[in-house]
Amino acid sequence: MKVLAVANQKGGVGKTTSSISLAACLAEKGKTVLLIDVDPQANATSGLGIPKTSGVSVCKALLGEEGIMQRVIAGGLDNLFVLPSDSELAMAEIHVARREDYLLRLRSALQPLRDSPTFDFVLLDCPPSIGVLMMNALAAADRVILPVQCEYYALEGVSVITGLIEQIRQCGACSDLAIEGVIMTMYDGRTRLAEQVVQDMRQHFGDLVYRTCIPRSVRLSEAPSHGKPIILYDPAGPGAVAYRQVTAEFLKRQG
Ligand SMILES: Nc1ncnc2c1ncn2[C@@H]1O[C@H](COP(=O)(O)OP(=O)(O)OP(=O)(O)O)[C@@H](O)[C@H]1O
Ligand SMILES: [Mg+2]
Repeated sequence: MKVLAVANQKGGVGKTTSSISLAACLAEKGKTVLLIDVDPQANATSGLGIPKTSGVSVCKALLGEEGIMQRVIAGGLDNLFVLPSDSELAMAEIHVARREDYLLRLRSALQPLRDSPTFDFVLLDCPPSIGVLMMNALAAADRVILPVQCEYYALEGVSVITGLIEQIRQCGACSDLAIEGVIMTMYDGRTRLAEQVVQDMRQHFGDLVYRTCIPRSVRLSEAPSHGKPIILYDPAGPGAVAYRQVTAEFLKRQG
């Protein structure tokens, strides 16, 4: 089992879109996937057509009051499972922060899944703010998937997340935490800027940047309002094709 945090402290860069799409594409490839919505905004939850009800999130598992599997539900696709989010999760930050082992709550909650592997991959859709939830997700992860929007300030923003990864490594929470891959999102091939940003990222991150860029696509932005991953909403469109290609690159790297 491999735990992947889909993280970037910058808002609106495509974390949730990438989490849902990657999870669905992996499930389509026959991998068993658990997507945990670690964001109180609950965008991954509603994006999969799951109603935002109270008391359904990872909140109680974080506090040690429930097992991690207790709230796991079907994700609308064979092999795909979801642990939704709710507004309660925002409160969890406060309660978790009081615990001495506040950074390791999610890692501990996921331990039973590591001990008896139920899933091939666990994806953590992170909130944009650097808080207890995001740090828990990083500390619980084996690797980080970093979605980066193709825009001017992209490179400046990523030094923050690489700094956080370093911090998690040094505090011993996860001594070999590293970036799994960088997904370039909302790529607009008509602009020179987008190409320049991708080149800059490749110079900085080398082969960690997936060859496939995710194009800006209206269908990708519509999919959440239909509660479906892009591979079901617009299976043959450019968004689905691109995320399938990124998934293939990801799986190839797993060896
Ligand atoms: N490739 C794309 N083409 C067009 N729209 C996109 C694309 N990727 C994401 N979007 C849209 O951009 C917005 C932000 O995307 P998303 O919610 O995935 O980002 P996020 O990083 O999870 O945001 P937050 O930081 O708030 O959690 C959403 O409305 C989404 O539908
Ligand atoms: Mg999000």
